[in-house]
Amino acid sequence: MPDTASKLSSMTVALHWIVGLMMIGLLAVGIYMEEYEVYSLYDIHKSLGVLILLVVIPRIVHRIRNGWPTAAGDYTAIEHLMSKIVHYLLIIGTLLLPISGMLMSGMGGHGISVFGLELLAENLNPSNPDEVVPINEFLAGLGHSLHGWGGDILLVAIALHVIGALKHHIIDKDGTLRRMLGKSI
Ligand code: HEM
Ligand code: HEM
Repeated sequence: MPDTASKLSSMTVALHWIVGLMMIGLLAVGIYMEEYEVYSLYDIHKSLGVLILLVVIPRIVHRIRNGWPTAAGDYTAIEHLMSKIVHYLLIIGTLLLPISGMLMSGMGGHGISVFGLELLAENLNPSNPDEVVPINEFLAGLGHSLHGWGGDILLVAIALHVIGALKHHIIDKDGTLRRMLGKSI
């Protein structure tokens, strides 16, 4: 069933919440593990960060095929513009964060694996196997910058997005949030 103004398809709702909640979790773990140097969390962050692409790619294909859902309430022109910009930032962020993470780790020589399944091996110095050697320092640095900046921009976009959703629900009392919870409005 396609999205309509009064009801969103179960595919739209399911993909929104699976990706949305995973993104919030990965952002929180990423910031925490880096800030407090909790290296035991790196593997799980990287594994789930790669696996999210299995849901992100179908989500983007579904969005391109079906277009964006039409507004559920009477949005002003500025609200339309804001929600469009934020929705683009969010959906681009869901692709940019995993790809930049893989670029940073892969090109940094640290390898990429998903819960022990090696996708790209570590690049170790043959004469000192404890030393990780970058494959391409420029690309690793680019990935690191995009991951850091992308994460910061995404946090702001998510905050605006959640404030917008709550404003529609609490102040405007329209069906924007209820519709994304799978209800007919
Ligand atoms: C949706 C997916 C992802 C999200 C939302 C995400 C988010 C984050 C965030 C917010 C940070 C902290 C950055 C900072 O405070 O500057 C971080 C750090 C990190 N992420 Fe991700 N990440 C994702 C996927 C990945 C993937 C796929 C990899 C690698 C395969 C990866 C590897 C790393 C590493 C190694 C760090 C620590 C960087 C450092 O210590 O300098 N991430 N991530
Ligand atoms: C608790 C957190 C969240 C809430 C309450 C929430 C709520 C909503 C609501 C009510 C809509 C419908 C907006 C409309 O009809 O104009 C929506 C759409 C959307 N949300 Fe969220 N959201 C959350 C988290 C996220 C996160 C973390 C992301 C991505 C990183 C995200 C990405 C999107 C996108 C791209 C849309 C546009 C419609 C679509 O592609 O399905 N959301 N969200």
